Order: sequence, then structure tokens, then C-alpha cells
Amino acid sequence: MTEKISENIKREIEKLVRDINHHNYRYYVLDSPVILDEEYDRLYRRLKELEAHYNYILPDSPTLRVGAPPLEKFEKVKHSAPMLSLDNAFSFDEVREFDKRIKRLLNIDADIEYTIEPKYDGLAMELTYKNGLLFRASTRGDGYEGEDVTQNIKTIKSVPLRIEESGTIPDVIDIRGEVYMNLNDFETLNKQREHNGEPLFANPRNAAAGSVRQLDPSITVSRKLYLACYGIGTVQGEIAFKSQTGFIDWLKAARFPIPARVETVKGIEKIINLIREFEEARQSFPFETDGAVIKVNDFGLQQRLGVKTREPRWAIAYKFQAHQGMTRIKEIRGSVGRTGVITPFAVFEPVRIGGVTVSRSTLHNWDEIERKDIRVGDTVVVERAGDVIPHVVTVVKDKRTGKEKIPPIPEKCPACGSTVVREEGQVAVRCVSLHCPAQVQEKIIHFASRGGMDIEGLGEKNVELLYSTGLIKRFEDIYRLKKEALLELPRFADKSAQNLIDAIEKSKQAPMAKFLFAIGILHVGEYAAKLLAKNFEKLEDLFHVKPERIMEIRQMGTKIAFSVSTFFNDDKNIETLKLLKSLGLKITNPDFTLKKRGEMPLEGSTFVITGILSKARKEVEDLIERNGGHVSSAVSASTDYLVIGEDPGSKLQKAKKLGVETISFDELLQLIKRRSGNPRLFD
Ligand code: IVH
Repeated sequence: MTEKISENIKREIEKLVRDINHHNYRYYVLDSPVILDEEYDRLYRRLKELEAHYNYILPDSPTLRVGAPPLEKFEKVKHSAPMLSLDNAFSFDEVREFDKRIKRLLNIDADIEYTIEPKYDGLAMELTYKNGLLFRASTRGDGYEGEDVTQNIKTIKSVPLRIEESGTIPDVIDIRGEVYMNLNDFETLNKQREHNGEPLFANPRNAAAGSVRQLDPSITVSRKLYLACYGIGTVQGEIAFKSQTGFIDWLKAARFPIPARVETVKGIEKIINLIREFEEARQSFPFETDGAVIKVNDFGLQQRLGVKTREPRWAIAYKFQAHQGMTRIKEIRGSVGRTGVITPFAVFEPVRIGGVTVSRSTLHNWDEIERKDIRVGDTVVVERAGDVIPHVVTVVKDKRTGKEKIPPIPEKCPACGSTVVREEGQVAVRCVSLHCPAQVQEKIIHFASRGGMDIEGLGEKNVELLYSTGLIKRFEDIYRLKKEALLELPRFADKSAQNLIDAIEKSKQAPMAKFLFAIGILHVGEYAAKLLAKNFEKLEDLFHVKPERIMEIRQMGTKIAFSVSTFFNDDKNIETLKLLKSLGLKITNPDFTLKKRGEMPLEGSTFVITGILSKARKEVEDLIERNGGHVSSAVSASTDYLVIGEDPGSKLQKAKKLGVETISFDELLQLIKRRSGNPRLFD
């Protein structure tokens, strides 16, 4: 049980929270850490320990950044003031027009003071802080109403959970900014997705949006996202910002991440010089920027200028020249991923775009080819945004000669020649052959990868070599590899061969979650693998499992359920699993937490949680689930209990309306104790 907390411990916790938040700020906002990762990890661990031991979690504790369970849907959020878009200018003359219009409307002759910031190509966000604490984060949506993505935004380390005291803290403030992904992180993510046989993101903006609009925050936390703040919605309380510059200064002091550059100058010609400078600097920004935003600095003048329907009159976005080029498609071919998905790609006549020669690009899927009406022989516009994977923007139909050919959807796998399948309503074309060499190699690479069995030295190149020499044809062959055989190969010397053998040996002790991910069951990513491990004690418990049993697990949909069930009902697969065991694989399962069914105190009851509890939300949910209960994110007629904390939300009203019983956290604990002689409370 929780120990009573002393003032000393409280102070230690408070200091840890302050220090870790400070180090997060140094690392994620200023990009200049002052401690080593190990030291950071030590502080974090200590805080976690104390919080769990004393059940004392501050509202801005960095430990709250991870671990919220998936939602069933996003709640809608009305913005207190509409989130506007911007007018575009495509030439300097249009920027000069903008300046003239402003002078005319304001009836001012003198030079106007403007700010200029890079335009971030990401996802617009509104962060609402109440009494200094992050209360809610919402997407822009249609400008008037967006979606509540607070749980996901909290996982972004540069988002302050509390406004740093830098003078006045407004009672309520809406801070607006852009969530974005850096170009190199975007590329890494896409490489990983390609490797996993998942569809690629077209650009960093889609990747950022896809990461934020995720019902499962554990996916968001795994994505590297950043924030840049540049605007305000409404403000309540004793604070008055006079200008964009003043506001940006406040943001900086309050430790919010601000745009990489904010310049303030008088006169439009100086702005035009800065636009030139920004456009040149564009390549050196780590993020994708498609323009510069120019704003009238003075908020008083902004107010006088007002807004049109959707855009303010006081700002404009200058759009940079896109990184595009024109070339001809010589060929459209397919490449086979681990899951057998055949992804089409175009082979171009090489073209230089932004200093790089581009000779191929993915076409994502066969539907996209049809949608964009892309044919072999077509002249196309290809875009390379920053250092991103190039993509076909559009076909230049004027250049068609009539000789272009519609690429047929392949009937045979380009790697192994077997017949492909396309499921009803699915965009993916798949090779389902068990012996397709492309898939087998990709599967083995995946099996050995970091997130899987983590066998160092068994990356792409070595798998290719071992496969082509016939030493590894399926995963079980990994565990039959002999050092002597490796030494025959050109790439291995005594030490490297020994290292690989050792790494393979080490991988034999694997947690079930990692193993389930590694064997590459269709649709089973790391998260689903962990859920399976939580619910099934041994691998054998999954043999011949029915899809219904998988669907009983919260968050498991039909797609995964059928895929898992199909996998474990295949005799060949089961044989392979048994074989792996006989080759020395020892699977442990530290994630398994459930007791036998029928013995669980909360079995059959559905819980919804609202408000701030004395324990982290995730811990309370785990507690309920450990005791057999089901946690849902929305109150409905099938809810049995609403667990309420401080400051409960609209769920309370709904529960009252539906006559759902409400209980406090303490009452929840009592309920568990009452119903069970052997409660599974906090560890
Ligand atoms: S100011 C009323 N500043 O661009 C003006 N917007 O195309 C609101 N954006 O919806 C926006 N960087 O999502 C502003 N430095 C910046 C920006 C920026 C990116 C986005 C924003 C806006 C969109 C308009």
C-alpha cells in the first residue's frame, strides 16, 4: 500500500519534476542538453519510483507524457476563436500588393513593421492552458471545430505541460502552433515502414498528421514530433500582448518552442530581402518549409485590419518555389515487401531536382496509379521536398503521344512468379507464396531486427548473403547456423563469425511480445504483440485460437483477430514454432498479467474514467484490467461504473443521465477488495 509522504519526499519529487522538465526543454527546445542520457534516465527512474511508492504525481510530471491507453474515438472541440488560414503570395509583386493594401486600409504612409517566420508544413494545433497547466490540445479541424488530441500531444516532449513562471500567467490562454516532423526523422520512419511492409507517408506533413490523429498514443510516442508556436487564440486574465514580437518573447520566456527564425523589420523591401534569405536557408532547416509567413507586428493594427471569411488581412504566406522537375517514366515495376505486398514504383529518365539525381520513386499502390492516371511513357512532374523520397505530383497530359501504356496490375509476383491475390476492397496486391524469396528475406530481416529478436549482425546485407548461399532459408535456419559455415563466406572472419553466433545464441531467450512481433504475423505490430503477450501466458495457448477469443481483448479489432487466428491455425506455422523451441528458443512472458478467468473481481464490469485521479490514468486502467474489468473511453448504456476524479468532464453529466453509478478512486479500490480475497493492487 501507499506509504505516507513526508515533506522531504514531496520536495524531492517537486525538484525532480522541475529538473526533468528543464532538461527536456534544454534537449527538445533549445537543442543543447546539459546532462548525459544516463543521468537523465537516472532522474526519470527515481521520479517514477517515488511517484509509484507515494502515489504522488504532480500535474506537470514528465511521467504523464507516456502511457495513455487508446481511445475509441476523438472528442470534438470547439475553438474559442476560429483558426484561420492564410492568403498566399507567389511573387514579390504580390507581397508588395499586400503591403499597399494594408497601408491603404490603415490610411498610413509610413513603413509598416512586419514579422517574418518560416511557414511550417505540419498540422495546426491549439493548446489550451488553464491556470498555467496544459488543459487540452486540439487539431484545427475545419477551423471552428477540431478534435481533442491531448493524450497524443502530451507525448511531444517540447510541449510544456506547465507554463514556466516568467511573470504573468494568463488564467486561460490558447496557444497555436504547428506540429511537424523533421525531414530526417520522416525518412527514417518511412524506411522502417517500408521494411515492415506498411504503406509509406507521402511527406512529413502527412506523417505528422497521421501520428497525431492516432487513437493509440503509444504510436504517437514512438514518432518524433516537434512543435513551433506562432499564434494566440483567446486569452483571459491579466495579460495583454501588444505585438507578435512581444508575444513571441513571452512564449520564449515561458519555454515554448518558437519558430526557428522570427525577424522583425520595417518596410516591405526589407521583408522581401528576408524572404530571399529564408528561401536560401530553406535547405538548412531540419524541417520542411514551403514558404514564409509575413505578419503585421502590431496587434492594435492587426485588430483594425480584421479578417476576411477565412483569412486575416494582416498576414500573408509567401510560397517558395517547389522542388519539382519534369521527366519521363520508362517503366513501372513492383517490389515485394515482407508481408507480400507488391508496391509499384516508377523508373524515370534520370532528372536533377534540387541538386539530386532522381531516377525512381514509389507510386504507393496500384489504385494511386489509376487515380492519377499514370502510364508508362508519361511525362510527369516529380517533387522532391527537401530530402524526402520523391513522388509523382501529376501527369503532364499535354505531352501524351498516344503511345503511353496503362501499367497492368501484376498477376504474377515479380520476385517469385507465383500468382498474386487482391482481396475484395483492398488496395494492396499481395504475393501469398510461402516460398517467395523476396518475402522470406524481408521476413528474416524483420525477425532479426531491433524490435524483433534483436540479433546484431543479421541485417539486410548478411541476410542477403546467407540466403543466397542457402545457409538461411527460413527463420529456424538461423538457429542452425554454424561458425564453420560462416567462415567459408567472404564476409566473415573469426571474430565477426563468432559475434554473430553469440548474438544468435543470446536472442534465444526472448520475451513473448518480442517474439510475436518478430515472426511477422500480418497486422501484428509491436503494440498488438504486447497485448497478445499480456493476454496469453504461453505461446501454446495461442495454438488454434479462435478469432472471437482475440476480439475479447480490448483494442483488438477483427482484422488482427482473424490474422492471428489464421496464423495459429496453420499446421505448418505451428510446426515451425515447435521446431524453433526444439532448437533452443526459450520464450519468457513478463508481460502476462491476467489471472485465470472466473477469478477476477471486476470481471464483466465496464468502467469509464473521468477527471484527475491521484494515480496516473494509465495505472488506474491497468489496475482495472488486471482485475478483469474492461475500460472504455466513452460513457454509454453498457457502462457499469464511472470512476471520477477531480474536475470531471462532460462524462459525468452523461453518466447521470444514463443512471450509471459513479465511484471515486478509493471506492474502486474498495470494490476490488470487497469482491476478492486476493486483490491485485499496485505492485
Ligand atoms: S499564422 C491567422 N504562422 O499555415 C494566421 N501560420 O496556410 C494563422 N502555418 O493554418 C496562422 N507556419 O497552420 C502562421 N509561422 C506560421 C505558420 C503558420 C505554418 C500554417 C498554419 C495555417 C496555415 C495557413
